Amino acid sequence: QELKLSLEQIEKGGYEHFMLKEIFEQPKSIHDTMRGRLIVEEGIIKMAGIWDHLEKFTNANRIIIIACGTSWHAGLIGEYLIEEFARINVEVEYASEFRYRNPIIGNKDVVIAISQSGETADTMAALKLAKEKGAFIYGICNVVDSSIARITDAGSYTHAGPEIGVASTKAFTAQLTILSLIALKLGKHNGSLSNGEFMKLITELDHLPKKIEEVLKSTHDLVKNIAKDFVNAQNFLYLGRGYNYPAALEGALKLKEISYIHAEGYPAAEMKHGPIALIDENMPIVIIAPKKGHYDKIVSNVQEIKARKGKVLAVVNTGDTQVSEMADYVIEIPETSECFSPIVASVPLQLLAYYIAVYRGANVDQPRNLAKSVTVE
Ligand code: G6P
Repeated sequence: QELKLSLEQIEKGGYEHFMLKEIFEQPKSIHDTMRGRLIVEEGIIKMAGIWDHLEKFTNANRIIIIACGTSWHAGLIGEYLIEEFARINVEVEYASEFRYRNPIIGNKDVVIAISQSGETADTMAALKLAKEKGAFIYGICNVVDSSIARITDAGSYTHAGPEIGVASTKAFTAQLTILSLIALKLGKHNGSLSNGEFMKLITELDHLPKKIEEVLKSTHDLVKNIAKDFVNAQNFLYLGRGYNYPAALEGALKLKEISYIHAEGYPAAEMKHGPIALIDENMPIVIIAPKKGHYDKIVSNVQEIKARKGKVLAVVNTGDTQVSEMADYVIEIPETSECFSPIVASVPLQLLAYYIAVYRGANVDQPRNLAKSVTVE
């Protein structure tokens, strides 16, 4: 027992939990995801899995992304990325729904499964169904040689390294990195993305590990303090727009998974269709509001919240004034391209969920009722 404990301590590398260690590993894991693939000096993205089947993707009727949990949130951002840059029709589905609804699917469709473990039963079954119907199936997995990686026609590993914490952190940002690479590569090859735009985006992508490192440094203590004020919260709303709407869903999922506080993510504009009824002085609302991406609209959402005395915790870009003046708590992150902002914004939200859960005495690495890999239906 003692030996096991000390081994675990070593594996945690000085961090109190695997989750915190994995949050802090993100500059490296994102770098590892891009290593050997993104070659900025030559202006290329090398991905054998895509390159060998380029026509399948560029001639696809549509791409269907299937996944569960956090991986499904990554899929939603993948939809925005691939549609924006490659102009290919993308749909995202929960694997569990897809497999049982007799979906219309054929040999002109590409089905991408996203799965950290590569073992999720619903995702696996949905893929098998897609394969039977003749679709080309592609895997984005973290665990090498996992079941999903083995049954797919091709794929890309995320290379985030082993993720032990049940709540996914570094695997999520690695999935977003892979999806960004795929979208940009497809866009470049089918001509939807100009060379200039492509170069600008890959240069920005290349800067991400450094930016994440900055975010960890500049927000860690701040978020740790802010979290103290929310230990007794009973509900949370997370709002974002565009690329940051799925980031809001993921922020809310992290919090509920490990702190057991009820949290919901919403596209900010949908607030008026329901959630606004919940807002009072006891409702904390996390707003993801980077400069690029519907900022003015978010400003009016924040005004509506403040008029109802909601407590606003805003994630904004460094130097922000408008949202920051209204917010009760402000977390600043560096600016990046709109499409990569969920990668940067997710980091302080992971820390927020982590510290709230720690202060509540919860078992962050192994939350009750949850499993790292769900191999049963
Ligand atoms: C479980 C885990 C989640 C994960 C989901 C999908 O619910 O607790 O963290 O997002 O399964 O797992 P996968 O391995 O397919 O990404």
